[in-house]
Amino acid sequence: MDFASLVELFKARRSIRKWKSDPVPEELLTKAIEAAGWSPNSGGKQTYRVYAITSRATIDAIGRAVQEVTDYLASLDVDPADRPAVERWQKSSAFFTNAPALIAVSAGVYQSIADKLQARNIADPRVAAINRNRNIAASRIQTVGAFVDHLLLSLHVLGLGAVYMAGPTQAKEAIEKLLGTGQDEDIVALVPVGWPDEQPAAPPRKPLADLVTFIR
Ligand SMILES: Cc1cc2nc3c(=O)[nH]c(=O)nc-3n(C[C@H](O)[C@H](O)[C@H](O)COP(=O)(O)O)c2cc1C
Repeated sequence: MDFASLVELFKARRSIRKWKSDPVPEELLTKAIEAAGWSPNSGGKQTYRVYAITSRATIDAIGRAVQEVTDYLASLDVDPADRPAVERWQKSSAFFTNAPALIAVSAGVYQSIADKLQARNIADPRVAAINRNRNIAASRIQTVGAFVDHLLLSLHVLGLGAVYMAGPTQAKEAIEKLLGTGQDEDIVALVPVGWPDEQPAAPPRKPLADLVTFIR
């Protein structure tokens, strides 16, 4: 593959939020998940788990759990200037249930040798500060990000449409209960998947100068 084709692929993938009702063959989900397994992962340990959900009942139950939290948050004190946006969010927060498939990704436990040392010595104030920074850059979460990015590109190449979603983790406990996840994992991303029923325009990207600093 030449570089221009790679950039073309990156530019052509879009977040898809509207799907046809046709089911997605499990074989395609498997293919995309397997391909995305080649993403970089902390310590080479692939400390994530993937839940590929095609059960209509489970997807709808996750949607209800997410909507319940949205409704609760929307019932709290709202800045009047934010009211229209809150109402839009309330109406659309379970939109992902329109997808025929939903992939949930959990972050498992990852402990590097440095993490182990920090855990043993956390009473030392300098270690505690080091550990706070380490948690901001948590490898287990970044590993899921890399996986989901590869997953989105794989699904796109297979003709499917998907969107990376962190928002629904507002109902994390309920989702984990519905999926029967283990004690040592945290659901951190949902990816609804289906055959695209929209062709959204690409949201603009910032100019490079706003993003990049060369330290020469
Ligand atoms: C970590 C992360 C979390 C996201 N969470 C949501 C979400 O909760 N709901 C949603 O509709 N889109 C979500 N998105 C999708 C972004 O809105 C989307 O990628 C962005 O607007 C750029 O559009 P594009 O993917 O079509 O290039 C998320 C993306 C990332 C990377």
